[in-house]
Amino acid sequence: MRTLKTYMTEHKKEKRRKYFERQKRIQNELRYYASDILHSENFDKSKNNMQHGSISVKEHSLQVARQSVLLSEWLRIEHNRRDLVRGALLHDYFLYDWHHIDRENPHRLHGFHHPLRALRNAEREYELTDRQREIIVKHMWPLTIKLPMCREAWVVTAADKYCSFLETVHLQKGHRRKKKK
Ligand SMILES: [Fe+2]
Ligand SMILES: [Fe+2]
Repeated sequence: MRTLKTYMTEHKKEKRRKYFERQKRIQNELRYYASDILHSENFDKSKNNMQHGSISVKEHSLQVARQSVLLSEWLRIEHNRRDLVRGALLHDYFLYDWHHIDRENPHRLHGFHHPLRALRNAEREYELTDRQREIIVKHMWPLTIKLPMCREAWVVTAADKYCSFLETVHLQKGHRRKKKK
């Protein structure tokens, strides 16, 4: 007879198996729709630019793309997966470290300006669809006031906020731990 402990262990194992399976499937989707972006020099360089705490822009963008896929599946909304993935990966393609401020690069109002900078950089390297442009330009809503006009842009906007929140909370925890020492 199975004890409660055995049942709980099996349940945990099953949950972990499903989690890793899902992560693997999403990673394959990212490769399928955006291998050119994932293997590009500039996207890789964004690992040197920090986003929140110790999370780089590259890791943040990958995380937003993964969460966007999960969220769109959870909501069961019709969408274009290719545009969703590519737009999410490029939403913060501003290619500088907004924490490094000097006279030439004051990065004033980074929150307002970086979507357009990301769009300009992305357009230089990739052929973007209207949906992908919309995702990049509107992802900072409501800061940038104009409403996202497609489902994919809403999904990425929500996923971006969710990921940014987790990254920031994690940072704050780290700060607290350091302070206690
Ligand atoms: Fe952003
Ligand atoms: Fe972002």
